[in-house]
Amino acid sequence: MTRMSAAGDSIPREDVLTFLKTRAKNGAGLVYTEAIVTDYESAQGYPGQARILNQNQVDAWKKVSDEIRSHGAVSICQMFHCGRMAYEGINPANRVIAPSPVAPMQENPMTGMPYPVPEPMSRFDMDHVITGFVETAKGIVAAGFDGLELHCAHGYLLSQFLSAYSNRRTDAYGGSMENRYRFIREVIHAVKAVLPDDRLLLVRISNWGIADMEVSLFPIHRVATDGETVSEDPLDAVSVSTYDFRKRL
Ligand SMILES: Cc1cc2nc3c(=O)[nH]c(=O)nc-3n(C[C@H](O)[C@H](O)[C@H](O)COP(=O)(O)O)c2cc1C
Repeated sequence: MTRMSAAGDSIPREDVLTFLKTRAKNGAGLVYTEAIVTDYESAQGYPGQARILNQNQVDAWKKVSDEIRSHGAVSICQMFHCGRMAYEGINPANRVIAPSPVAPMQENPMTGMPYPVPEPMSRFDMDHVITGFVETAKGIVAAGFDGLELHCAHGYLLSQFLSAYSNRRTDAYGGSMENRYRFIREVIHAVKAVLPDDRLLLVRISNWGIADMEVSLFPIHRVATDGETVSEDPLDAVSVSTYDFRKRL
């Protein structure tokens, strides 16, 4: 769970890291980190988010994964890019990017202001975002985690590509479900290429987002049960977040 506790060094506060270690100590078999952001350009959407992109950050997280392992539990580090769920000034590069120039409908609770209309991602942007995921994956490996999860849920960047509401692209990344999934597939394969065989690769999907809840984001059963799309990719598990599964699946 994103705790927004990191200072300028993008390392979570000590008590937040202790919380994760304590869960393993108390018997949890699988411990997830909060979603960390994948670059210093455009990935951040909230204050105080964490990264694993330099040695100090790797060292801080290594203590967490070591202790989780010492209690016999499996550690997974989750990562994401916030895409249009961001605002000017939150990222050093001062950019808000997304598949298409569609702003979330409601106000940003962080600023009390409307979200900005995001810049539609160019191919250059897409490659740069993939690089962020890959560099973060390397950091996660160096920090000793047993696996990583791509957060493709809850209306953040990868989920914004899946949703026909936030993705209005007319190129190979928009339109059909297959096209809307294409960018995620590129991220999966790029990350897989830097993961040792003994590390797990997971994705998290949902049919809801924290913005525009009233809009049906995409038919989750296409991905979750038919499995035609994700099952072709080198994944160890799919984590399905349903918010209220009785109403929304
Ligand atoms: C403050 C806060 C932070 C959250 N951070 C994350 C996160 O980092 N990663 C994530 O997958 N979900 C995050 N969530 C969403 C919840 O983990 C969860 O998905 C949601 O409560 C719905 O439950 P379900 O996923 O079991 O359907 C967060 C929720 C809250 C309230």
